Amino acid sequence: MKTLIENGIVVTHAGRMTADVLIDGETVVGIAASGSHGWTADRVIDAAGRFVFPGGVDVHTHMELPFGGTFASDDFESGTRAAAWGGTTTIVDFAVQTIGEPMMAGYEAWREKSDGRCAIDYGFHMIVSDVNEQSLKEMDILMGEGVTSFKLFMAYPGVLYSDDGQIFMAMQKAAENGGTIMMHAENGIVIDVLRDQAIKRGETDPIYHAITRPPITESEATHRAIAYAELAGCPLYVVHMSADEAVAEVALARDRGLNVFGETCPQYLYLDWDNLREPGFEGAKYVCSTPVRSREDGHQDALWMALATNDLQVISTDHCPFCMNDHPTLGTQKRLGEGDFTKIPNGIPGVEERMRLIYDGAVSDGRMSLERFVEVCSATPAKMFGMYPKKGTIAVGSDADIVIWNPDVETMMSVDVNHMDVDYSAYEGKTVKGKIEMVMSRGRVLIENDTYHGSPGDGSFIARDTNQYLI
Ligand code: URP
Ligand code: ZN
Ligand code: ZN
Repeated sequence: MKTLIENGIVVTHAGRMTADVLIDGETVVGIAASGSHGWTADRVIDAAGRFVFPGGVDVHTHMELPFGGTFASDDFESGTRAAAWGGTTTIVDFAVQTIGEPMMAGYEAWREKSDGRCAIDYGFHMIVSDVNEQSLKEMDILMGEGVTSFKLFMAYPGVLYSDDGQIFMAMQKAAENGGTIMMHAENGIVIDVLRDQAIKRGETDPIYHAITRPPITESEATHRAIAYAELAGCPLYVVHMSADEAVAEVALARDRGLNVFGETCPQYLYLDWDNLREPGFEGAKYVCSTPVRSREDGHQDALWMALATNDLQVISTDHCPFCMNDHPTLGTQKRLGEGDFTKIPNGIPGVEERMRLIYDGAVSDGRMSLERFVEVCSATPAKMFGMYPKKGTIAVGSDADIVIWNPDVETMMSVDVNHMDVDYSAYEGKTVKGKIEMVMSRGRVLIENDTYHGSPGDGSFIARDTNQYLI
């Protein structure tokens, strides 16, 4: 089956041109100036006046993540379908090692949960919760499976936390086997002290989640992670960055030529303490770690600037939804923390909203070029996690993961129109420029005419290569 997308403005990280794209089966087989060729196809799609983007690549999602006594409410089926609705055609999720268990058991459990369920292609990072001799050996095995990145936590003592020695050993292993270390960089030991003191003072509302995780707890941990990565000699990718001071640490390291990279997420670009202070218990909707920051302190502007200058390289979602009210099987998840913010499950939904939110804030608001938008949302995440050029671009030989985007139509963020399995949107009522008119995954049309045409199992597991973004 051949498909021809005609007359669109084809945008990659490298440039844009009015062009026709020929797809044969799952693959892009030709790109040429519109009308300059004699191609025929079984289906011809007119994309005049539209952008033709590579599908979004979201390298930080948590479908079904066990957290705080519950599970993220999107499973692999609903979450990847919602991603497709939002123009994302590849995710990299996180398999989790249970403390005291082999890492491979966690990996196999996540492969099983996701198998035959995903709407789009997907890979896994591995969360290493228990660094020990066996885990270090299993890091080598996972590299062979195409799981080439490992997340460690400097936060959440007693749960996912690794101490400095454990972190350093995992980094030494990554330096040896070519893996990339992903770091949740917050000083969890200090945060727990601040948190317990706040609770003792009766400061139990959602806003105290952010107040007890001040920027210095992020920047100190980021600095320390960079120091250990430099000593060990491994690439370091700092996840979900929100504090200006922490991004400055990444920028300094990059200026010294280190393979240090940073990611931020839409919540840190759009949400702030006013959201956490929403009346009633509504602030719980915005509880995530690192926390959203106060607008007055300039973090949002600093993050946008860092994205524009490549001090930050990637925007992912950290999609980790929990319901406010009754979920049919999971109950009132965020409300576990009513009267005690420390019990609010951490996480915000966003996998469906990222592309439109970022297009609006970056391109429509004039902060970034179209090409840079594609770079931070598709091309660089694909390179960073070893999937390029199959993913992240439109080129001969690439997977035909394509989004046809109408820049002239406004759309709204709302739980009423979203497809994620969660009962709120963190951006409720926000209108953005841009409508996703068609989404293709490996040549198969998943979204067209506001209708989903895919089925569970359309997506395949991606065995990833090593980091392709290294200096
Ligand atoms: O609040 C967050 N970020 N929840 C998901 C788990 C993590 O640390 O990424
Ligand atoms: Zn994290
Ligand atoms: Zn996360």
